[in-house]
Amino acid sequence: MSDLLVLKDVVKIFRQGGLLGRRELTAVKNVSFSLSADNPEILSVVGESGSGKSTLAAMILGQTMPTSGRLDFKGKPIAFRTRRERRALMLDVQPVLQNPFEAFNPLKTVDRYLFETAKNIRLSKDAISKLQLEQLTDEALGHVGLTLAEVRGRYPHELSGGQLQRVAIARALLPKPRLLIADEPVSMVDASLRMAIVNLFGRLKKELGLSIVYITHDLATAYYISDRIVIMRKGEIVEQGEARAILDNPQHPYSIKLKEAVLSPDLAET
Ligand SMILES: Nc1ncnc2c1ncn2[C@@H]1O[C@H](COP(=O)(O)OP(=O)(O)O)[C@@H](O)[C@H]1O
Ligand SMILES: [Mg+2]
Repeated sequence: MSDLLVLKDVVKIFRQGGLLGRRELTAVKNVSFSLSADNPEILSVVGESGSGKSTLAAMILGQTMPTSGRLDFKGKPIAFRTRRERRALMLDVQPVLQNPFEAFNPLKTVDRYLFETAKNIRLSKDAISKLQLEQLTDEALGHVGLTLAEVRGRYPHELSGGQLQRVAIARALLPKPRLLIADEPVSMVDASLRMAIVNLFGRLKKELGLSIVYITHDLATAYYISDRIVIMRKGEIVEQGEARAILDNPQHPYSIKLKEAVLSPDLAET
């Protein structure tokens, strides 16, 4: 058994302030969990706003350094990488953002954006034909239930939020990553289309052997899709375990509160 991702006692402290004193904010506190390289899983990180989820995502993506603790991807620290190793990490670990409209250039058709991405991620500088680019792009779009013909010539604003999020996921698949870090990927998508995208993650896990860290404040979708759930509160993990065990029998008062919110009809629509 080898590990894909290991977090061990990860801490992130933001220090702010100037002459009149410094403020420290511990955004992530002693977080530990791991994902196996042999058995793809969807791990949900659940917590309300401000609980440190996005900070955690940024550290896994190598965008922010931890203050202390260990983050390893495929047995190597995520920080302190050479240029070449950083590039390899960027291809292996792909983000899916909350707002797909921010992921695209509004002035570029999405097919052109995908072609450029497909071209840029190639390690070899050999020429690649237009036909090959189209095939790679069409294949990636196929994994999210779209075709190149459907999006060709379209600008981001000409697609719905749900469609554009699918295209964003296809873009993330182009480098053939091992791990997706999806930070609130459906919170800006129409409620009626959310489950379709969440289900898509399950298919990608099965069909491509992708591991997925699904970050959400919504325990209901997390429970539905994930193998394991980590519940965070104020930067700390208060509970983690198999999804079913957590929902059937939550231990921590905060997890119980989240579960009650899921079951309450008043809150079901929010
Ligand atoms: N760059 C930053 N500088 C200072 N504080 C930050 C920064 N990023 C996040 N924080 C703070 O860290 C805490 C956790 O934020 P975040 O990771 O965005 O939580 P979540 O994604 O769960 O809403 C919040 O209190 C937030 O204000
Ligand atoms: Mg966030």
